[in-house]
Amino acid sequence: MGASNLVVSRVSLTSEGEWDELIAGYWASWLDPFQATGELTFAHLGTRSPAEQKAFSKVKNDLLNQARSDPDNTVWLKCVDVQLKRIIGGGMYKIYRSNPYRAGAPTPVADWFPDGSEKRALAEAMYRQLWAWRAKLMTEKHFCGCALWTLPEYRYQGAAGLILERFVRHADEFQMEAYLEGSEMAVRLYEQYGFTVVSEAKLYFEPPDGTAGSADWWRLVHNLQSHPVSIMWRPVGGQQGLKYPWEKDGPQSRL
Ligand SMILES: CC(C)(COP(=O)(O)OP(=O)(O)OC[C@H]1O[C@@H](n2cnc3c(N)ncnc32)[C@H](O)[C@@H]1OP(=O)(O)O)[C@@H](O)C(=O)NCCC(=O)NCCS
Repeated sequence: MGASNLVVSRVSLTSEGEWDELIAGYWASWLDPFQATGELTFAHLGTRSPAEQKAFSKVKNDLLNQARSDPDNTVWLKCVDVQLKRIIGGGMYKIYRSNPYRAGAPTPVADWFPDGSEKRALAEAMYRQLWAWRAKLMTEKHFCGCALWTLPEYRYQGAAGLILERFVRHADEFQMEAYLEGSEMAVRLYEQYGFTVVSEAKLYFEPPDGTAGSADWWRLVHNLQSHPVSIMWRPVGGQQGLKYPWEKDGPQSRL
């Protein structure tokens, strides 16, 4: 249960003002704590530079275009503080009505970093390894969650829980499984909504060809390895009681 001033609803894909506010909050939530997964997803994060502004505008437009290209299956939610009329949290999930990975896992293209750059190679290596799990585990229709966030000053008031409640209710109405990649700080919350950790993704990285990797490359790799991303699965109706994922019919049986 979230605080009574917090209300969750679907984001309009036609109101540009609302979309701007939503994505600005999404971006700001990744500044605190500063996670390597965020740094590799949002170029120039936290630099307060024109380059960060440019990267932000690109993310905002790309996400809106993606949502508009498949509005029936792309659900963006917002959590609003109705007293202050402010979007303080959000999240997104995609509905896949059949196996989306028949041709294999999606290929990441981290074009928010320059071609040939260390960060681009690292971001693509990270997403390639994470997304490989999607194709291995989710071979039927399912919901796929991502982009859950709450502004730092609104944390621990149940906002993300309210968003997740909507997400899992929808998945249950459709009698569908769900999947997501959870950051360390969100894992317990996802478990409260019926997800279970299938694996902590072990990520391996090689410095770019012929180099030893810059200090920044090693910093990011160290951060990624010390804060593992959890591969999380939710059966139809949610994980109940003490049923472990490696038991019969759990996702491990698909690996
Ligand atoms: C992860 C994140 C979305 C959680 O947002 P949140 O709104 O603080 O989450 P909630 O308040 O719904 O729940 C978080 C915790 O608060 C607890 N909580 C919920 N309501 C509470 C209340 N009124 N008082 C105290 N604790 C409360 C929950 O049980 C949960 O606790 P636990 O994880 O310690 O067991 C937020 O920390 C965030 O934006 N992090 C940065 C981005 C990120 O990592 N996103 C996840 C991507 S996978």
